[in-house]
Amino acid sequence: MKSPATDRPIITTEKLSRHFDKAVAVESLDLSVDRGEMYGLVGPDGAGKSTAIRLLCGILKPTGGSGTVLGFDLVRETEQIKGRMGYLSQNFTLYGDLTVDENIEFFADLHGVKGFQKRRDELLDFTRLTPFRRRLAQSLSGGMKKKLALACTLIHTPDLIFLDEPSTGVDPVSRGEFWNILSGIMEQGVTIFMTTPYLDEAERCHRIGLMHKGRIFMTGSPEEVKAAMPGQIYNIECPTPPAAYKALREFWPSTRLVLYGDRLHFWTPEGANELDKARACLEERGLGPVRHSKVAPSLEDAFIALLGQGESA
Ligand SMILES: Nc1ncnc2c1ncn2[C@@H]1O[C@H](COP(=O)(O)OP(=O)(O)OP(=O)(O)O)[C@@H](O)[C@H]1O
Ligand SMILES: [Mg+2]
Repeated sequence: MKSPATDRPIITTEKLSRHFDKAVAVESLDLSVDRGEMYGLVGPDGAGKSTAIRLLCGILKPTGGSGTVLGFDLVRETEQIKGRMGYLSQNFTLYGDLTVDENIEFFADLHGVKGFQKRRDELLDFTRLTPFRRRLAQSLSGGMKKKLALACTLIHTPDLIFLDEPSTGVDPVSRGEFWNILSGIMEQGVTIFMTTPYLDEAERCHRIGLMHKGRIFMTGSPEEVKAAMPGQIYNIECPTPPAAYKALREFWPSTRLVLYGDRLHFWTPEGANELDKARACLEERGLGPVRHSKVAPSLEDAFIALLGQGESA
């Protein structure tokens, strides 16, 4: 049997696509993910994230394009891929009437892992689930269920894991703990390919792909993505930000404005000229005094701006 390639990227795709009848779920993905990387696919509901992961896991056949995962072909060698990677699906279900220990044992059997007990103990320790090992899965908290699901995904010691929205629905404290666990997994040399709708989580990835309507429209490190954002964002402070937002929305689309509790962000590709227009608009309507300052874009700002730019193009 062919051994996994070590001298090439762990994932490569060229124009990888998946259409369902006339619906385009994934279109022309060109990906290259290196060993040891944490790559995050970021996008809103329906962007095509889960479909992309299922294509890369060899669970779903592409309708176009090609690719390799762990050196195996995405169309012809899917069995080899499935046996070597770990996949935590978005709708991953544990067996509620089995204990924590029994769930892991079940997944060990599924992957034909012999002598899994040592690995199970390590994973329970790692995910801090050891005190709960005899508890039924249905009695675990949401965060603990996710950690158990992750432990099940890792039982066969894969080099590459696919995590589809692993922290969605998990409370912020457990999300933090979950991320610490993922960092630990990375230190062991595992490559992580994940999806997330949360831009604050995406900040933690080495590289991200911004996805919308089946396409990745920007790839790079979080810093590179933020630097690619054209124009300037201004923080606007005034006495009634909601009224100011409403007034500005008469002239600018929602992709240009973000309302926060006590201020708003105005993104302008043109810079100071357009800011002056916005200021004048507010002052003419008696919504001043208006103060402004420049702000560095967040990943969320960059996502919205780059998306808006792509759509208008
Ligand atoms: N089996 C299917 N048959 C038909 N259309 C599908 C199928 N699977 C996915 N789609 C469509 O493909 C698009 C992408 O779906 P996908 O589940 O990949 O998005 P997603 O980014 O994972 O969304 P979410 O954040 O909601 O999980 C959607 O429009 C979806 O309706
Ligand atoms: Mg999904």
